[in-house]
Amino acid sequence: MIAWMAEILSIARQLPGKGVRSCALTDLLFSLFKVSSAAAMASAALARSTTLSSLSLHTTTPRSNQCKRALVSAFAPAHSAASPASLGFSRSAATGGSPSLRRVVRQQSTAAVSQTREAGQARAAGLPIDLTGKKAFVAGVADDQGFGWAISKALAEAGAEIILGTWVPALGIFEKSLKMGKFDDSRKLSNGQMLEFAKVYPLDAAFDKPEDVPEDIATNKRYAGAAGFTISECAEKVANDFGKIDILVHSLANGPEVTKNLLETSRRGYLAASSASAYSFISLLQHFGPHMTQGGATVSLTYFASEKVIPGYGGGMSSAKAALESDTQVLAWEAGRKYGLRVNTISAGPLRSRAAKAIGFIDDMINYSTANAPLPKELTAEDVGNAAAFLVSPLASSITGTVLYVDNGLHVMGLAVDSPQVAKAAS
Ligand SMILES: NC(=O)c1ccc[n+]([C@@H]2O[C@H](COP(=O)([O-])OP(=O)(O)OC[C@H]3O[C@@H](n4cnc5c(N)ncnc54)[C@H](O)[C@@H]3O)[C@@H](O)[C@H]2O)c1
Repeated sequence: MIAWMAEILSIARQLPGKGVRSCALTDLLFSLFKVSSAAAMASAALARSTTLSSLSLHTTTPRSNQCKRALVSAFAPAHSAASPASLGFSRSAATGGSPSLRRVVRQQSTAAVSQTREAGQARAAGLPIDLTGKKAFVAGVADDQGFGWAISKALAEAGAEIILGTWVPALGIFEKSLKMGKFDDSRKLSNGQMLEFAKVYPLDAAFDKPEDVPEDIATNKRYAGAAGFTISECAEKVANDFGKIDILVHSLANGPEVTKNLLETSRRGYLAASSASAYSFISLLQHFGPHMTQGGATVSLTYFASEKVIPGYGGGMSSAKAALESDTQVLAWEAGRKYGLRVNTISAGPLRSRAAKAIGFIDDMINYSTANAPLPKELTAEDVGNAAAFLVSPLASSITGTVLYVDNGLHVMGLAVDSPQVAKAAS
């Protein structure tokens, strides 16, 4: 078997171009994997120490990325640590330096076999987030400015297929803008491909079942032509069209009285904020949970106003975010035990999204954060997208029930250092 592998490696070395060589080697090693699991474990060690090292230096083409993801997901289970060096190979030896690969194969094969457990847990150099073959349903994308879009993009960068749920009143303009190429600049992925949405479903996360939809919504012209937009119907349609999904993202909020102080908020406005912004997550998980894979993950978006007073973030939105964070813990327990799912939320810093602009003071919040956060820079949607991709990936497989702050550290501050009253203390 070892001789056979050495032969394969030898052939692969003669192929033109490292990308081609890597992929051919990948295919051959996959065949080998099917023949004998024990031998394949050994090949995993060798593949990682040769092909993956090579791939890690040549990951700019889509094909090589595919190969890398395929190799990583086939050979390297979720939690890994061993590097090629720890397996007895140096990167220079594996990628064309001396000693020759044939000699390395001979010398290291015994060690590789004995290290199969370690090898099975090893990961490609660079610790990639690999979501190849995963399906993500992202609720709350209606343009390219918000967190939902950035999360979709980050998940797509990691190889996931993206399915959207878009609020019915915003659906028409979103689809039209997509079609007209308005988002094309934002759709560009780092591998040169475009962010694609497998399907966009109409969704109104304020309603769970068709019988919940009141007359004024059912007959509203903005809802005309949109059928099956309640959460249960949407989940059913997604399950019928795509089977099980792996990732559920809740990136939506709505507080009709957000500009009112809590003291002036009506019961109706308060309950509407909680319904659309907090209960909607419970309902999404309730209805998508049965259609999610064991080991799947969910993530929602929250805001620091849940914990400390942010004057102006009114209408019961602070209460809705507090509920969302508390629910994250309870649902982590319940959905963890029931479906093997992870449930986390990201407490994001201020971003100039469409929803945030509607609140009316987002520029002030951004300036305040830049002036007072430990990291004095403006938060980008990509910062949050990348954190979400990590949270739903196998790299975070033991993280659940958590609020992850992605806010340049603003939440740790107890003092506004740009206040003239504290200028001395802050300097
Ligand atoms: N922008 C910020 O500064 C900030 C900070 C912290 C947390 N967040 C949170 O991030 C999440 C995403 O918001 P964003 O700021 O990216 O703005 P956004 O405008 O991109 O996203 C909000 C989305 O919610 C959708 N929506 C509203 N009501 C809905 C309903 N009933 N059913 C389905 N969808 C509905 C809107 O169409 C929109 O697509 C929200 O939970 C928000 O509270 C935002």
